[in-house]
Amino acid sequence: MSSASLSLDGNNFELPVITGSEGEVGVDIGKLRAQSGAITVDPGFTSTGACESAITFIDGEKGILRYRGYPIEQLAEESDFVEVAWLLLYGELPTAEQLKVFRAKLTYHSMIHEDMKKFFEGFPNNAHPMAILSAMVCSLSTYYPESEYEETHDDNIVRLIAKVRTLATYAYKKSIGQPMIYPQNGLPYCANFLHMMFAVPTEEYTPNPVLVKALNALLILHADHEQNCSTSTVRMVGSSRANIFASISAGISALWGPLHGGANQAVLEMLQMIQDDGGDYKKWVQKAKDKDDGFRLMGFGHRVYKNFDPRATILRKMSDEVLAELGVNDPLLEIAKNLEQVALEDEYFVSRKLYPNVDFYSGILYRAMGIPTNMFTVMFSIGRLPGWLAHWKELRDSDSRIYRPRQIYTGAQARDYTPVGAR
Ligand code: ACO
Repeated sequence: MSSASLSLDGNNFELPVITGSEGEVGVDIGKLRAQSGAITVDPGFTSTGACESAITFIDGEKGILRYRGYPIEQLAEESDFVEVAWLLLYGELPTAEQLKVFRAKLTYHSMIHEDMKKFFEGFPNNAHPMAILSAMVCSLSTYYPESEYEETHDDNIVRLIAKVRTLATYAYKKSIGQPMIYPQNGLPYCANFLHMMFAVPTEEYTPNPVLVKALNALLILHADHEQNCSTSTVRMVGSSRANIFASISAGISALWGPLHGGANQAVLEMLQMIQDDGGDYKKWVQKAKDKDDGFRLMGFGHRVYKNFDPRATILRKMSDEVLAELGVNDPLLEIAKNLEQVALEDEYFVSRKLYPNVDFYSGILYRAMGIPTNMFTVMFSIGRLPGWLAHWKELRDSDSRIYRPRQIYTGAQARDYTPVGAR
């Protein structure tokens, strides 16, 4: 296919067609307005491609997810988060030397400026850690004011991936009134996070290898998902040439919403609510189907996956294994499985192709690992960070223009102003 034609009020317009490396077809309407005066309208961007990208491929009908061509199943099973971060950022698996240097840099940059600790003191104890994380990531730009220069981008990418763990765990420690724990240079990325999260100054802490493995897999599964809401936000903000810290901070804010990354917290709260209500999950399935009831089954449905979410399949299996290894018997896991079973057989969910998404099981796992519910979306942010950064870098390395959608105006037509006394 090389072109498409659009007929508008009897005029014919030829539109070029772009084909991706997996055969995806896009009609390029970039010149449509200049040629015809008309724009296309697609609220929610269901059929709109915002860019060409070489980072992640998703086939929602077949349940396929690949980072730089590598299947998510292989990466989750065999790789670790730092290696996947490199892959997303630079397009190829790193050599042993590249990986060694990257790991060393992540260790070297893991501390935050001591002055930043004062910022944490200003937040109320019950502040949501996503608000703190977003504010702190933006604040990093005040320490690296040269971030507008291209030659600083790679250093700032490393700084962000290294420091996000420290910022996240400081937010948590602040919320429970414990002293902040400094990163330890002898620990690899995920073990260091667990150390800062769970160690206390009065005791030795050795990260449990089961938790380290599970955390690596969880972060890999969340590491990128092409043009989702938060990644599109990062690209949108980055397109104005805003600095890398401001752009990522905006992505964190977008991720926070319950229809996006905030769903993992919402799923756990929903499961808890069903249990507290007596465990009658069928009643809640009925409520989710009732259009007069605002309740939705959190963790179900996805804009892109219309068969199954491959990440949910991996996480379902992992939840069974990790909970067994940790000796955790969580009644919420039972409710989750029952809910999934009922929903998967119900005509409402089947006909709308609503399947469990990545967030349906991630909360159960995080809970078993001892991560508190209000930190779940922060965990998602840590995982998604390399993806955001890869997209930001791809955008800035290209000759992209500022993102600026059009609209169809539906407001009042021109009218004359009247002074307040005359109205
Ligand atoms: N429970 C009940 N009904 C649902 C659900 C749900 N979780 N999700 C969608 N539906 C219904 C809608 O009511 C609608 O029904 P209708 O056609 O009769 O009006 C239909 O399914 C299509 O739903 P939309 O909201 O139009 O689908 P959209 O693609 O815009 O939204 C979304 C996708 C936001 C994920 C939605 O399915 C949802 O709200 N799910 C729950 C929140 C959630 O789990 N979000 C995490 C997404 S994954 C991620 O971001 C990491």
